[in-house]
Amino acid sequence: MMIETENLTKRYGERTVFRDLNLHFQRGNIYMITGPSGGGKSSLLNILGLLDDRFDGVCTFCGRDVKQMTDREKSRIRGGQIGYIFQNFNLIEELSILDNLMLPWLYSDRKDYTFFRERAAGLAAQFGIRDIETAKARTLSGGGQQRIAAARALLADPPVILADEPTGNLDSANAGIVMDCLYRQKQRNRLVIVVTHDDRLLPLADAVTELHGEPQEENGSLTNML
Ligand SMILES: Nc1ncnc2c1ncn2[C@@H]1O[C@H](COP(=O)(O)OP(=O)(O)OP(=O)(O)O)[C@@H](O)[C@H]1O
Ligand SMILES: [Mg+2]
Repeated sequence: MMIETENLTKRYGERTVFRDLNLHFQRGNIYMITGPSGGGKSSLLNILGLLDDRFDGVCTFCGRDVKQMTDREKSRIRGGQIGYIFQNFNLIEELSILDNLMLPWLYSDRKDYTFFRERAAGLAAQFGIRDIETAKARTLSGGGQQRIAAARALLADPPVILADEPTGNLDSANAGIVMDCLYRQKQRNRLVIVVTHDDRLLPLADAVTELHGEPQEENGSLTNML
């Protein structure tokens, strides 16, 4: 199993976002995470992606307990084994498209510049992104930025792809490109976990997890204030 959770619980202070999730994620599958805004989808993805270890319960990556890993080990996994498509893209606006696409190379052991550079150009073409050397990321529309984020996630050809609303800003043609690409990753035995509200993506799912958010305990503080 690539990623597993056992009684995974996430709280922010007093607020419980989700409780006791037992999830299993295997390579060669696409998993969808759905649910209302505030349901905890991005919070879950951050934990699965080794970006947040403030949780209760257990999360394992390739059988290794995430909480037992050193920072160095986690950052090596983040750089080499996980491709992220963040909900807010996380592009560096003042950098060129190419430099944004190359960020995973920067965070890797920085070998094979030419190989990565060619891959970046190939991915840009596949996602219909032009002027990669001259245009800055901030000059692109939301849809353009989302396509850069998707292309960047694939640069290092990671075995795990975590995508937070990857088609949220895309028209149907571009959403189709992203969906095809995620499906191809599954066929190549990659693990794909997608947070989405987009019904167009659901037919691709091998499994769907719905996060509703936890009902919060009444503490009467609002009543007391009135
Ligand atoms: N850093 C934080 N500190 C405190 N509360 C937070 C933090 N991040 C998220 N939350 C809260 O946790 C809950 C879940 O947030 P999360 O972003 O995981 O939801 P989501 O399902 O991704 O929502 P959306 O569909 O709007 O992206 C929300 O109530 C949010 O306000
Ligand atoms: Mg979110």
